[in-house]
Amino acid sequence: MGNEVEFPKDFLWGGAISAIQTEGAFDKDGRGLSVFDVYPKGGPTPTIPFSEGRYNYKEAIDFYSNYKDDIALFAEMGFKVLRTSISWTRIFPSGDDVEPNEKGLQFYDDVFDELLRNGIQPLVTLLHLDFPYSLVENYGGWNNRKTVELFERYARTVFERYKDKVKYWITLNEINIILHRPHLVGVSLGENKYQSIYQSAHHQLVASALAVKACHEIIPDAKIGCMLGAMPFYPYSCKPEDVFEGLLRDQSTFFFSDIQAKGYYPYFTKKLFKEKKVTLDIQPEDERILSENLVDFVSFSYYMSLTIAKDLHGKETTSGNLFGGLKNPYIPSSEWGWQIDPLGLRITMHQLYQRYEKPLFIVENGLGSFDKLEEDKSVHDQYRVEYLKEHFKAAANGIEDGIELLGFAVWGPIDLVSASTGQMNKRYGFIYVDKDDDGNGNLERYKKDSFYWYKEVIATNGESL
Ligand code: BG6
Repeated sequence: MGNEVEFPKDFLWGGAISAIQTEGAFDKDGRGLSVFDVYPKGGPTPTIPFSEGRYNYKEAIDFYSNYKDDIALFAEMGFKVLRTSISWTRIFPSGDDVEPNEKGLQFYDDVFDELLRNGIQPLVTLLHLDFPYSLVENYGGWNNRKTVELFERYARTVFERYKDKVKYWITLNEINIILHRPHLVGVSLGENKYQSIYQSAHHQLVASALAVKACHEIIPDAKIGCMLGAMPFYPYSCKPEDVFEGLLRDQSTFFFSDIQAKGYYPYFTKKLFKEKKVTLDIQPEDERILSENLVDFVSFSYYMSLTIAKDLHGKETTSGNLFGGLKNPYIPSSEWGWQIDPLGLRITMHQLYQRYEKPLFIVENGLGSFDKLEEDKSVHDQYRVEYLKEHFKAAANGIEDGIELLGFAVWGPIDLVSASTGQMNKRYGFIYVDKDDDGNGNLERYKKDSFYWYKEVIATNGESL
């Protein structure tokens, strides 16, 4: 093909959004509140502050009303796949309701039908940040075993309803984020925070395995995967202590996918739990549930690599996706301090494939930036094109290395609300949405320069890169 990149012919090019960051309509048609609806104002103080009074998730970009037009724009770019999530509280407003909410179920029927009409496969995450708030209030969230049963019921309900429409599923978004932002995903912290985190994580892992089981039973021709927030930890120096620190940090991420892809707690768990004084309450059937229900593919988000040292003292730090690390002097950073490292994507692919030998799926990658809407409503975002071009090439190199990659879903193909900062002005889209952090704007959509570029990439299956 005359250049160095090649993608499989059925490669799933597309984009990824989440319900909470796009839909808005937070109280429409019977939807219940999620932790994300209340967190920026009423929740515990996050490390990166959410700006009080700023444009937020309640209206988001009103995908709830605009989904048809937005899907038409995705189709115009030639998307083969759209990753989105179902809002649990549209289906079960309190998380534990006896009957599902028909209006919520109908909304996703409409969205999936519209995608399929446009030749786009839905890839659906069961839970992407918007855990039902009333489950935290009434049960203490994921700390409580009851949540496992409720999650399984929710999963079975949507598998039954959408079994003819959705063939790609993900259980929980970035499951490892529970380590860094427990409140954000519905965990209540007790005296020993690690005890709360790992007990909740155990419940999530069992719930995830039960969802895999249900999916395999109800939709035998579907594939269901786990999902990590992946970022390789590089040692700050070649000092063995720094290298070992990097290894331990990587282990803390892979802990989760080890269980979801291999079916058992990894060898380093015993030592880890001893150090953190964690004693898990494990039910007799849990081991079997975990070992019998392995995911079909391993998906992940990738935005950056992180750098780490044994001794952090006196070293320059930088921020990252919900948690940061040390500044790496060899690579540039985005306007939010996220370190831009396309080769890190290829490294991550190797780390995961080596460990699990299961197909991979890149379900988030992209550049958040301040974009400028010109007078003529154009947006010149060549920086986004450069960022994505290098990451697509890295993915192609990984494929060439022998790794099976199902697809690449670019994060936020349409501008949406940032998860870590609650900002609207941190934009990822190929499509500009006229709304700013203060709520100004009319939600009109405009195509950025990157829109036309991505369309060409998909049309040529990456040959134009
Ligand atoms: C991932 C999340 O962590 O990163 C997304 O799954 C999120 O929901 C994305 O939006 C980018 O992060 P941010 O903070 O720039 O929105």
